[in-house]
Amino acid sequence: MNKVTVVGSGFVGATVAQYVADKELADVVVVDILEGIPQGKSLDMMQAAPINGHDCNLIGTNDYAETKNSDIVVITAGIARKPGMTRDDLLKINANIVKEVAEKTVKLSPDAIYIVVTNPLDVMTYLTWKTTKLPTSRVIGMAGVLDSARFQAFIGMELGFSVEDTKAMVLGGHGDLMVPIPRFSTVNGIPITELMPADRIEALAERTRNGGAEIVGLLKAGSAYYAPGASVAHMVEAILRDKNRLLPCAVYADGEYGLKDVYIGLPAVLGREGMKKIVELKLTAEESAALKKSADSIKENIDQMNKLLVAV
Ligand code: NAI
Ligand code: 2OP
Repeated sequence: MNKVTVVGSGFVGATVAQYVADKELADVVVVDILEGIPQGKSLDMMQAAPINGHDCNLIGTNDYAETKNSDIVVITAGIARKPGMTRDDLLKINANIVKEVAEKTVKLSPDAIYIVVTNPLDVMTYLTWKTTKLPTSRVIGMAGVLDSARFQAFIGMELGFSVEDTKAMVLGGHGDLMVPIPRFSTVNGIPITELMPADRIEALAERTRNGGAEIVGLLKAGSAYYAPGASVAHMVEAILRDKNRLLPCAVYADGEYGLKDVYIGLPAVLGREGMKKIVELKLTAEESAALKKSADSIKENIDQMNKLLVAV
């Protein structure tokens, strides 16, 4: 059985563990600094196993020793921005958490593939790569699958078609500057540009850009976790089953799309070795400019994070 470690037993971490086990992809170790929470949630999920029908073992722990020799490490540990907290406060706190988690896990699982979830996503993925010193093929961020799933859901709702037939491609960073690409978004192969007027497409793209904030606005405390958890499990499945799926993921750009030394959402092939390759597509001038703007903003945040980490 494969082994997946999920660091952070909060809303997203626990949901990832549940979906990974329900799909019978791997044994799961859930780690948190909180005592009792990972243990309690894992035991609860073990008790759901006879009903859901899988034989995966789920362990909750506060001890990293249990994570040894994981095939995949998912990092969801961190805090959400609270009232009165600046973006820099959040960046500094989560950077320190992610750095510590990456250092502790990579010592025990040097062959693991990392999927980073903690926000700000693209920056935390870059930090995990720098900290673990792993090849870029083994450090990947989850955001594009989620943002594309949101776009797919909105397309299905708008047109009244099954979401099973909707496909979408959202590139760029996980934030206001993400780049939904309608030309690459289809209903069973038919580009949505053939099915909807431009103003409706832009409205759905805008709703996608605000997808996370819309859920926060409704939940008041906390952010989305069902779709994020399902998105991570989808990536875990692509990797462990060596599916060669073409998915938008936060990957390291080293010249692709004219971008360099930045983690950003691009179409990538996922399989057993991790990120096998970035697929370069011809973008319009407008799409390229939007991607560049998003990359510039991520780079500014990486610089800011580096300053904050030095200042600790
Ligand atoms: P949460 O607050 O429910 O869970 C976070 C967990 O991390 C808590 O249980 C906390 O105790 C734990 N934690 C904090 N410091 C730790 C440390 N040093 N070591 C181990 N565990 C530690 O938050 P939630 O909703 O699970 O979200 C987690 C992160 O994922 C947030 O940063 C959130 O913004 C991000 N997120 C990213 C998405 C994406 O698309 N990339 C989507 C949804 C959430
Ligand atoms: C989301 O998009 C908060 O990043 C998180 O739901």
